[in-house]
Amino acid sequence: MELELRTDPVERTTLPALAVFAFEDDPARSGTAASLPSQTQELLGQLKSSDELKGKTFDCVLLHRPQGLAAERLLVVGAGKREKFSGALERRLAGAATRYLRSRGIHEFGWVVGQERNSSSPAQAGSEGFLLGDFDVESYRTDEEAAKRYISRVVLFAGKGSDKKSIEEQITRGRVIGEARNWARELVNEPSNNLTPTILAEKAEAMANRYGLRVDVFGPKKIQALKMGAFYSVAQGSEEPPRLIVVNYEPEGAPEKPLIGLIGKGVTFDSGGISIKPSDSMHEMKTDMAGAATMLAVMQVIAQLKPRVRVIAIVPATENLPSGKAQKPGDIQVSMSGKTIEILNTDAEGRLLLADALTYARQLGCTHLLDAATLTGAVMIALGHITTGVFGWNQEWVDNVLQAARQAGEKFWQLPVDDEYRPQYKSMIADLANTGGRYGGAITAAMFVGEFAEGTPWAHLDIAGTRWTNAEKPYMAKGATGVGV
Ligand code: BES
Ligand code: MN
Ligand code: ZN
Repeated sequence: MELELRTDPVERTTLPALAVFAFEDDPARSGTAASLPSQTQELLGQLKSSDELKGKTFDCVLLHRPQGLAAERLLVVGAGKREKFSGALERRLAGAATRYLRSRGIHEFGWVVGQERNSSSPAQAGSEGFLLGDFDVESYRTDEEAAKRYISRVVLFAGKGSDKKSIEEQITRGRVIGEARNWARELVNEPSNNLTPTILAEKAEAMANRYGLRVDVFGPKKIQALKMGAFYSVAQGSEEPPRLIVVNYEPEGAPEKPLIGLIGKGVTFDSGGISIKPSDSMHEMKTDMAGAATMLAVMQVIAQLKPRVRVIAIVPATENLPSGKAQKPGDIQVSMSGKTIEILNTDAEGRLLLADALTYARQLGCTHLLDAATLTGAVMIALGHITTGVFGWNQEWVDNVLQAARQAGEKFWQLPVDDEYRPQYKSMIADLANTGGRYGGAITAAMFVGEFAEGTPWAHLDIAGTRWTNAEKPYMAKGATGVGV
C-alpha cells in the first residue's frame, strides 16, 4: 500500500473517493468533515436533517458526485461522541473507511488527517488503521474475488500550515507498526502444518536478515545441551524438532544497560499432549504461538525505528503433542534453572517453555524481562477477548508496560500476583507443580513463570483472550489480532 502526503486543498483531488470522519453532535461540520468546503457541508446538513447521517461510531455514508468536491465519492465515517475520541479510535475509523471502500471495489482514496486534541499522532493512527483494515485472512481461498479487494494507495491530506516533516514521520511509524502487526497476524493465522517450529524459525531468520538483526536458531541438541529440561519436555512428544530462536538488536552507541529481554511463547500447535484437549475448538490451538509472533514483530519494528536501547527476543518454539515419547502427568522435569517441576497436566506447557526461556534471558544478561504468551483459558474467563492480562512483581516495570499500552491505545489490565497463591502450585515431591488448580488459574500460571525471573524485573502478558477474535469488526478482519505489537 502506497501512502502519500499532500497539503493541497482536499476539494481539488480527483481520487475515486475522499474519506472523512464526523461526530454525532454535528456530523455535517465536525471532525475532519470540518475541512470540507461549505457546499459539501450543506449537503451533509441536509442528510443530517433527513436522519441519513448520524455520526454513530463506524456508521458509513457514501455519497456519489458530492457537490463542492472533485473526488468521485465522499465517505463520511461516524466517529461517535466527541468526548470519547482517541488516537485508538482514529486508527479504527481509518480501518473502517478502508474496509468499507475496498468492499465496494475502490482501490485508492483520500483521507483527511485529523486535528483533534485527544489524538496526538493522527497521521500515524490513520496509516496504521489503513494497513490493519486492509489485511485479510483468506490467503488459502482459491477463488479470485479475494485477491481483487486490496487498497493500493491512500493519499493523506494535511492542513496547509501543517508540519510536513513530522507528519511524514508519523506515516512512517504507522506503516512500520501496521506492517509488523499484520505480519504477526499472518503468522498466527497460519495453520500448524505450514508453521512448524522449523518454519517459524526460518521466517524469523528471514525477517532478521532483511532488517539487519543478528539471529541464532538452535535445535534439539543445543536445547538439551543448555539443560532446558522444561522446554524440552514439551518438545519430546513431537516428530517436529523444537527451535530456540534468539534475535538481537544492538544499536551502535547504546548503553550496556538496560538490556530488554522479550520472550514469546511459540507453541505452534497445542493439543494438550497426553492431557489432551477436547476436540471442539482444538483447531484454534494453531494460534498458541501468538506470543512468539508478537515479539518477533516487535523486533521488526525496533529494527526500523531504531531506539537507543539493546533488545533481545527469545522464542522457544515447539509443538505439544501426545505420542509414545510424550511426557506424562506425574513426570518430573529439571528446568535450566535447576528447579524441579512435577508435571500434573501436560496441557500446562506454556509455563514450562517460558521458565527456561526466562532463565536463558537472564543468563544472556537481560536486565528487564517481558513475556507474551497465550498462557491460560482462565485469563479469557477474567477479561474476555478485549483486554490483555498484565502481571509482575516489579511495579515500576509493570507501570512502564501499562503506560506503553495506554500510549499505543491497547487495552491492558493488571491482575495481581501474591505470595498467598504460591501454595497452589506446590508439589508433593518437587520444587514446583506445573498447575495451580482451577481458581485464579491465570495468576498461578503467571506466578509460576515469575519464579524463573528470580529478582529480575519481569512483566507477563497473558494474551490467550486477545490474540484472536471471532467477531468481524468494521475496522478489522476476524482472526488473529496482532495484539501487543
Ligand atoms: N494454550 C493454552 C491456553 C489457551 C486456551 C490459549 C485457550 C488460547 C485459548 C494453554 O497451554 C493451556 O492449555 N492452559 C491450560 C492450563 C491448565 C491445564 C492449568 C488452561 O488454561 O486450561
Ligand atoms: Mn496447553
Ligand atoms: Zn498452550
